[in-house]
Amino acid sequence: MSIRYAAPGRVNLIGEHTDYNSGFALPIALPQRTVATFAPDGSEVISAASANADGSTPIPLDTAPGGVDGWAGYVAGVIWALREAGHPVPGGRLTIDGDVPIGSGLSSSAALECAVLGALTAAADITLDRIEQARLAQRAENDYVGAPTGLLDQLASLFGEPATALLIDFREITVRPVDFDPYGHGVALLLIDSRSRHEHVGGEYAQRRASCERAAAALGVASLREVTDAEALTALTDPTDARRARHVLSENQRVLDVVAALAAEDYPAVGRLFTESHASMREDFAITTDHIDLIAHTAVDAGAFGARMTGGGFGGCVIALVPEARAKTVAAAVRKAVSEAGYPEPGISRTYAAQGAGLLP
Ligand code: GLA
Repeated sequence: MSIRYAAPGRVNLIGEHTDYNSGFALPIALPQRTVATFAPDGSEVISAASANADGSTPIPLDTAPGGVDGWAGYVAGVIWALREAGHPVPGGRLTIDGDVPIGSGLSSSAALECAVLGALTAAADITLDRIEQARLAQRAENDYVGAPTGLLDQLASLFGEPATALLIDFREITVRPVDFDPYGHGVALLLIDSRSRHEHVGGEYAQRRASCERAAAALGVASLREVTDAEALTALTDPTDARRARHVLSENQRVLDVVAALAAEDYPAVGRLFTESHASMREDFAITTDHIDLIAHTAVDAGAFGARMTGGGFGGCVIALVPEARAKTVAAAVRKAVSEAGYPEPGISRTYAAQGAGLLP
């Protein structure tokens, strides 16, 4: 008997680097997903194989941080986090397959964690609510793999629904569905994969997080979410930390503004907020690159309502909200501009909000 569990990648529509600041974000789950197939065999080892790699990695059930690295480290991290939380994990054969691109900023790691977690808990007949699943998957990533990421990616993968964006409040840890069907309004969501990723992305991410935490501590608050008036930031003496904090405050507001614009079916306004978010990530948070900036502003110049980098930063993907009639022109303009600048050919596709994680028949 084997169990198959699927978990998608995600695109964050807006709300970047707000999750670990107890703020707001608005992701969607992608149609691309990772599938974990698990066959329990009564042993004390999970042997993990991936369609993207040769051979298989034996992971003892009593694995601990530092035990396994590479892609199988995420699998080992999930095993470890489940056992640390007191849940039984059966041994067996685990196979990973799927079509979430790796290293594009679309959360292939969260998709992997959530798929493995879903398959193992189903095999052990354990029922966890989705918030608990997200926390365990995050624990695997933070404490086993060692990446200090927030809860955005896992919640998006677990809660996704078709034609729906997810308004996440990371202070209350609540997820509210928001109608998101641009195609029903003659608008396309283009996903533009730059096919480039900064090598030091992990270190830069940790630095941004440390800046935000320093700013909150200097202001005497538990998180930047508690700062409601940007005027308060003038008390910060470190100009870099002040700029990072300004991004977080303005980005939280833009998430709420996008939700209001979607409710009003005002896609041009949603697009303007995307573009403002990109400018804030470029100027205040300093997580974009020349390559990514070129893609985003070319899309807007060619007729997109707006465009922004999505995900942790330093490469990865740009999303552009584009009137259907302009979609081909925008894609062609982006391809031309990046080719003239000597960057690799981007991957451009239309994307949409798809179903979140779950068991497959
Ligand atoms: C990465 C992290 C998330 C989040 C985003 C930025 O995707 O995994 O937790 O911080 O970056 O919004």
